[in-house]
Amino acid sequence: MGLVSFARGSPSSLCDGTGHDRLRAGIVKPLANATLFARARRRLHAASLEALSGCRTIIDVAAGDDRLYLKLAARPDVDRVVINDLDVEALRRGARPHPKVARLSADALGLDFLRVTFDGALVKNILHHLADLDAMHRLLQTARRLGRRVVVIEIEDPKTGRLPRLLHRHYYRHLLGERDNEDLFFDHETLSGIVSRAYPGVRWVARRVATVRGTYSLYRVDFPAHHDMEA
Ligand SMILES: C[S@@+](CC[C@H](N)C(=O)[O-])C[C@H]1O[C@@H](n2cnc3c(N)ncnc32)[C@H](O)[C@@H]1O
Repeated sequence: MGLVSFARGSPSSLCDGTGHDRLRAGIVKPLANATLFARARRRLHAASLEALSGCRTIIDVAAGDDRLYLKLAARPDVDRVVINDLDVEALRRGARPHPKVARLSADALGLDFLRVTFDGALVKNILHHLADLDAMHRLLQTARRLGRRVVVIEIEDPKTGRLPRLLHRHYYRHLLGERDNEDLFFDHETLSGIVSRAYPGVRWVARRVATVRGTYSLYRVDFPAHHDMEA
């Protein structure tokens, strides 16, 4: 299926089209993912798959070049997976044709224009790429309107661990050139507070996934069946 692009903003990710950027995004990152970070990636994928179990229709609001969507689409009970990212190049790098998968390129904060809802909305590792806390809150509200279940996965502040700090500074920032917002790295308690404030009165379950890249906080929020999507 083709790619529908509504992208206008500037993605905070790898590739701005130069040969050097394409080398980093197309070779260095996949190589590291296939070797050093293979286990970390598998663990995070397994946790994501578990959190989205039972969802027949899923949207990943910022999939980047991650191929988690192929594992989701391989499930016999999954009917449809929509993957979105502001960065068209990242989507193209990760693209493998699949009849259940549609690709969309739009600002995740503007996804309210979609007139469909999904069983699951995945918000994985995008929060620390946003402008500020207000944007985080708005994205969580958008995810709530899109999904009857919202799964948030976010790296905990990498600067608090020795190896994650080195990786963040030297690998992600300098080698890959990723642009994140250091002010939006938080510990588990603070992330839990952000999720609680976004979804007051709704029960959620949290778990933490420790990897060589750092520890990730995962939240699964199930909205009640009578949840008013316009609220
Ligand atoms: C660290 S990557 C995570 C990608 C994927 N979710 C994963 O876990 O591998 C962050 C992604 O968020 C995307 N992104 C940042 N701001 C965005 C926005 N406003 N709307 C959509 N995507 C955005 C970037 O382009 C990038 O692909």
